[in-house]
Amino acid sequence: MLHHPQVKGPNIGLLGVSKGGDLCLSMAAFLKDNITATVLINACVANTLVPLYYKDLSVPSLGYDQTKMKIMESGLLDLRDSWNNPLEEPNHQSLIPLEKAQGPFLFIVGMDDHNWKSALYAQIACEHLQAHGKDRPQIIYYPETGHCIDPPYFPPPIAFVHSVVDVAIF
Ligand SMILES: *[C@@H]1O[C@H](CO)[C@@H](O)[C@H](O)[C@H]1NC(C)=O
Repeated sequence: MLHHPQVKGPNIGLLGVSKGGDLCLSMAAFLKDNITATVLINACVANTLVPLYYKDLSVPSLGYDQTKMKIMESGLLDLRDSWNNPLEEPNHQSLIPLEKAQGPFLFIVGMDDHNWKSALYAQIACEHLQAHGKDRPQIIYYPETGHCIDPPYFPPPIAFVHSVVDVAIF
């Protein structure tokens, strides 16, 4: 990105939504240099969906239990309770070591996110950073807002087709 002619440099900021959020957290933690701000929209604090490999490092993905997925009244899928708790053994191996990142972090949270517990994950990130003597991240909570919060100029969706389960999620 830093070599892209449209990028001014010498530093860049990251912005990731959903799975893109944990990817940005990993980039901030493991690539570090020249990443000086990270914005996460409804992100998880653990690596999700696929294992992450970088040089000799590998981070397993956070597991989930398909039997805990629920259908909401709207007919849309609720995945909140299906994800394993990233703070429990052995799931914590999927946690991203945020303290290695430069920061600062901004977490944007839809309080009606049914894809996963974005508010809880932002809270875990906050506690984790503080436990390592780092600055508190900024967290902005949006009530009555689901998983799909897109940056400006993205088309406004109310639901999206989840690439893992292949059904529409609110
Ligand atoms: C990264 O930041 C340093 C310090 O500001 C700068 O010297 C270097 O050129 C940057 N790297 C890239 C690839 O832009």
